[in-house]
Amino acid sequence: MAVRFAEEKDLARVNELRRQVNELHVEGKPDVFKPGFCPELRDYVYTVFADENKKIVVAEREGTLCGFAVLNHIRKPENPFMFERDFLDIDEFGVDESFRRRGVASEMIAFIRDWAKKQGYHRLELNMWEFNAGALQFYEAAGFSTFRRYMEMFL
Ligand SMILES: CC(C)(COP(=O)(O)OP(=O)(O)OC[C@H]1O[C@@H](n2cnc3c(N)ncnc32)[C@H](O)[C@@H]1OP(=O)(O)O)[C@@H](O)C(=O)NCCC(=O)NCCS
Repeated sequence: MAVRFAEEKDLARVNELRRQVNELHVEGKPDVFKPGFCPELRDYVYTVFADENKKIVVAEREGTLCGFAVLNHIRKPENPFMFERDFLDIDEFGVDESFRRRGVASEMIAFIRDWAKKQGYHRLELNMWEFNAGALQFYEAAGFSTFRRYMEMFL
């Protein structure tokens, strides 16, 4: 399998994978996520591709682009509460339904870790939705640990 950075020609296929992730989010958190895959969401991948602080990683297996990740370099200045923070955020992440549990996501994380270390990053971060138990199990298996929680109460 090859894991690499996306080229512009990959983006239509990346959008097919983004649509799968969006559908999962719509099903799991319909009060937050918009159903369908609206033109703005479709075109957002081109904005990401052109953004110098962001990178799109793709995984290919058997000639099929079957996984993707969006990376975002985040710099937060110091404030009265916190020190300055500089880290690599995994903004979007998914593997095609028909390629899951075959190590694709693990290989993408290995690629991202290696690249991020070489770039001088000291920390990877991501956030995920609580309903997504499979993603939590994957991220924990990949070595991530929870450091912060969002909580809510409906009124
Ligand atoms: C989460 C996701 C990226 C995992 O991708 P994957 O390629 O199937 O993951 P891997 O094959 O590398 O899994 C490695 C290990 O993680 C754990 N794991 C992965 N998916 C899991 C699941 N659904 N349930 C429980 N454990 C899981 C297992 O320990 C697995 O090892 P095993 O298959 O030998 O048991 C994939 O299920 C996915 O795209 N889900 C929908 C989108 C999503 O949730 N994205 C992330 C949040 S935005």
